[in-house]
Amino acid sequence: MDPERLKGKNILITGAARGMGAANAEAFSAQGANVTLGDLDEGAAQEVADRINGAGNGRAIAVKMDVTKRADNAAAVAATVEAFGSINVGLFNAGLNKPRFFMDIDEDNWDMIMSVNTKAMWLGMQETARQMIAQGPQDKPYKLINVGSIASRKPLVDVTVYCTSKYGCLALTECGALGLAEHNITVNGYAPGVVVTPLWEQLDKDLVEIGFKEREGQAYDDIVENNLVIKRVSYPKDIIGTASFLASDDSDYMTGQMISIDGGWVTK
Ligand SMILES: NC(=O)c1ccc[n+]([C@@H]2O[C@H](COP(=O)([O-])OP(=O)(O)OC[C@H]3O[C@@H](n4cnc5c(N)ncnc54)[C@H](O)[C@@H]3O)[C@@H](O)[C@H]2O)c1
Repeated sequence: MDPERLKGKNILITGAARGMGAANAEAFSAQGANVTLGDLDEGAAQEVADRINGAGNGRAIAVKMDVTKRADNAAAVAATVEAFGSINVGLFNAGLNKPRFFMDIDEDNWDMIMSVNTKAMWLGMQETARQMIAQGPQDKPYKLINVGSIASRKPLVDVTVYCTSKYGCLALTECGALGLAEHNITVNGYAPGVVVTPLWEQLDKDLVEIGFKEREGQAYDDIVENNLVIKRVSYPKDIIGTASFLASDDSDYMTGQMISIDGGWVTK
């Protein structure tokens, strides 16, 4: 990793206490970025921040936030500016899943997933862009990065609401690129497939509970066998290269794109 690649980037990452958010925070800071780790779980986010500060390249702060609250998004942006002087990049990563077959979806399932995965992305993008616009033009584009999913492009029978929420992330990426271009803000994203994180470990159990799979681990095996071109599931380390590219100057002439990192599950 080039320790200077993200020098001068001050980056807010939501859902950064664990999983891909934490891995990206550590990768970004190892390349010189300063990072704000926003999460409901402030203690775990602080542990990641302490590790980053101990490593001695980019600096890190942890902020307790519920991404579904506009005020928390505004406060996380303000904390970034207070700590590092400005914000240049927002990575909207917080997300969750709870599988249900179509006829079993209820309002609680719908509202929980849609509010964290989609509404909160819109709020985070808007509050971050508000600060970027207030900071005024800079030579390089400001960057918003949205975390989609294989479920942004592929209908899946067990996770209709998750698919709906992640198709929404794709729409926010494409529409946000149009709506924010005049402010020199680009909007891109990436769409993982199966990444071994606490989210997928819980999903694996839930799929047995709703009767979609007979045993834990079967979902991984079935997807690898039936859907993936690259015959293995992925890990957060498989994601950090693309996320770093999108945060870096190397992606300056891109907007409205969501890059698949899914072992070849979808091909467009
Ligand atoms: N793991 C996968 O296979 C996979 C695949 C495709 C997309 N994704 C997406 O990638 C992103 C990260 O997933 P992960 O697997 O690393 O998940 P994870 O569960 O490991 O981490 C998610 C983090 O988000 C935080 N969070 C949840 N709700 C929050 C809220 N309301 N406010 C603030 N923080 C909140 C959690 O505390 C947690 O630290 C999510 O958007 C997820 O939908 C994951």
